[in-house]
Amino acid sequence: MLDIKRAGHSTLTTPDIEKMVDYFTRIVGLSLAAREKNRAILATKSGLEAIVLEKGGAAEAPRLSMQVAPGSDLGEVASRLKKAGLKSERRSDITPGIGEALAFTDPKGTTIEVFSDFNFAPEDNTFTGVMPIKFGHIAYQCPDVKGMVKFYCDVLGFRVSDWRSDFFAFLRCSRDHHTVNFLRNDKTAIHHIAFEVRDWSDIKRACDILARNEIKLTWGPIRHIIGHNIAIYHKNPDGIVIEFFTDLDQMHDEELGYFEPRPWHQDRPQRPKVWGDDTPSNWWGPMSHGSPASAQAPLQPGAAPVHHGLQAAPAKASARKPAVAQARAKQAQKKSRASRKPRRG
Ligand SMILES: [Fe+2]
Repeated sequence: MLDIKRAGHSTLTTPDIEKMVDYFTRIVGLSLAAREKNRAILATKSGLEAIVLEKGGAAEAPRLSMQVAPGSDLGEVASRLKKAGLKSERRSDITPGIGEALAFTDPKGTTIEVFSDFNFAPEDNTFTGVMPIKFGHIAYQCPDVKGMVKFYCDVLGFRVSDWRSDFFAFLRCSRDHHTVNFLRNDKTAIHHIAFEVRDWSDIKRACDILARNEIKLTWGPIRHIIGHNIAIYHKNPDGIVIEFFTDLDQMHDEELGYFEPRPWHQDRPQRPKVWGDDTPSNWWGPMSHGSPASAQAPLQPGAAPVHHGLQAAPAKASARKPAVAQARAKQAQKKSRASRKPRRG
């Protein structure tokens, strides 16, 4: 088993590389670390490579890089993969920051590029766009979520943070509650990419930057319950859902086994668990079940709207409506009785 420490960058194919470079630099606030004829490498302002753009026919995410401990021998990593039945290939010059990597394919067809050593991109002190602190997580849709979870845990060393029912898994490889997600769907595709920002004030700044550039939020601001991150969502020019988030649950000590205590947790202590289908998708309230049509991911057959693993629960939601109606009717009856009482004095 490997011991993945963090996700590096996601490689995205795009029909219009110039448009995407403009979006990722001017709006997201990444810096252009390198530009080649059909490729662009984008890093955070502090020098962590986050996105590689490649010219392609469709907007897809064919590769994901992941880092093991610096100094690890990639030959030894390759033999561990071989023991797990995986054939890997040594590749060089992945990006300006990654000289060498081992490439292999995960069960849903994404190429994983495992690297051990990394050079930070030159510092960029310009102040543009949202400027996330890091590439936070990537979510995929795929038919066999359980198979993906088994592979990521048994082969790559991820841990399960939470499940939503049996169709959405949240896996961690560091303190962060999740670095990859898998959502069950018939087809395999990217679901969304998320960048971490420093705090709530940067979420507010991001909202204003997006609005000033006529990019409307498709969902949020919300606080999730699964992971408890504050998040906003929009679509980039290629239609890929992009999330900015902060306040994600942290597992500081795997042996303790609980997420760092937070006042908004539902359980004390908050441990990894399976959440019900009817878990609200916004702890703050509005749009807590499902998401607007514009933000919806492709759905499971016959399923209610899904986003970030958060699905409407039609049966329970509708069951709640009569309860609310009953409460309101009771309140109205009370008021009406009160108004009929004879006044004294
Ligand atoms: Fe997310």
